[in-house]
Amino acid sequence: MEEQRESWGSKTGFILAAAGSAIGLGNIWKFPYIAGENGGASFVIVYLICIATIGLPVLIAEILIGRSGQRNPVGAFRKLSHSKFWAGVGGMGIVGGFLILSFYAIIAGWAIGYIVEAITGSFFDFVDPAASAEYFKDLVGNVYWILGYFILFMILTTVIVFAGVRKGIERGSKIMMPILFVLLIVLMVRGVTLDGAGKGLDFLWNPDWSKINANSILIALGHAFFTLSLGMGAMLTYGSYMSKKDNIVISAAQIVFLDTLIALIAGMAIFSSVFAAGLDPQAGPGLIFHTLPSVFIKMPGGYFFSIIFFILLTLAALTSSISLLEVVVSYFVDERKWKRHNAAIVLAFIITLLGVPSALSFNVLSDFKIFGLDFFALVDFLASNIMLPLGGLLISIFVAWIWGYDRVIPNLKEGAQNLFEKYPWIIVCWKIFLKYFSPILIFLVFLHSIGILDKIINLF
Ligand code: PFF
Repeated sequence: MEEQRESWGSKTGFILAAAGSAIGLGNIWKFPYIAGENGGASFVIVYLICIATIGLPVLIAEILIGRSGQRNPVGAFRKLSHSKFWAGVGGMGIVGGFLILSFYAIIAGWAIGYIVEAITGSFFDFVDPAASAEYFKDLVGNVYWILGYFILFMILTTVIVFAGVRKGIERGSKIMMPILFVLLIVLMVRGVTLDGAGKGLDFLWNPDWSKINANSILIALGHAFFTLSLGMGAMLTYGSYMSKKDNIVISAAQIVFLDTLIALIAGMAIFSSVFAAGLDPQAGPGLIFHTLPSVFIKMPGGYFFSIIFFILLTLAALTSSISLLEVVVSYFVDERKWKRHNAAIVLAFIITLLGVPSALSFNVLSDFKIFGLDFFALVDFLASNIMLPLGGLLISIFVAWIWGYDRVIPNLKEGAQNLFEKYPWIIVCWKIFLKYFSPILIFLVFLHSIGILDKIINLF
């Protein structure tokens, strides 16, 4: 007899866990800096359109595959398609889980390391962002520092996944998500009440359309995938623990709403503070680790707020990393019949080993390049720019064209009967977006990611 499959204890449990997966470094570290580099408000508007028209339909599709298949990505695709090719698409998600977690946990480790730096008051030695950039370089240049915090973060992730879907992931998300939300609100209130914060808010809310071009649209669309954890089976796996009584469309809309809200609040907190301190919003990936420490020392209560900020960043990363490890664990539990406890430990160990060369690419291996990229950048590129859009493309093709709407819709209707009777246009819109818009636009993101589209655009 097959063992009873794990499941969420409640609908809120699922939503908080899935929103936890979505809300992560992508919202607090990446979104503000790409918005900063691409013109602020106008980018935000494009991003919102991408989230609503592509992100939401694909999220619904991905959760639906999981809930209908009741398996990990490989098992779910195999069960629904009876085809090796599609099971292989699920397999790409498992590989994606290994790869993304191996570099995601390194940045998350920096966040833990920065909690310690904030507590010890190191930021107060910085005279300007250049000094904090230098300090950051020294820290990541230290093999013990970077590996130590990376391993610590992997241990935290493993402990939660080890404890199981309900007792680990669901309980952890129910504790961490409200704390995250409160901390972020505190930071936003601090930011927007600083003298000179208004310029930061203008930057985020007043569009400058001259900054929008094909490139920034594709960046927005690519980020919509990353931030919603789409394209590699994380939402599929979480969907596989969902009850058929729950409404997928409403749940997906709530997840998208929370994810977007947090990104915007994080943007407000960060830009108001950066502008109030008279610093550059276009600092790129270093915005959080270089610019912010020198922002904190200038703000009243900065010592306290700097600690809060890096705790927030760590919690956000943790609720995402557990979903990445869970994808991999669920595969070995479902398909290879491993025990969850063994799977969590062994797989986390392998992922940690895989992450070592990425961590070392900030120090001893910094000169080691493949195709001009160091190991960290290469893994990030492969996973975020190739596997996620490709996965998203295949997920929308599978649901809209292969599985077939006559089989898809009855599954989607489970738990959502009332909604569809009242608003039949929801299904119509979803079908059209998923069938036509998503595949075409995601394909363009994919071409952009591998550089082909940019060459074509430059021809004109
Ligand atoms: N959505 C996460 C973030 O915004 O930080 C990153 C992520 C988590 C991507 C899980 C993919 C994934 F499967």
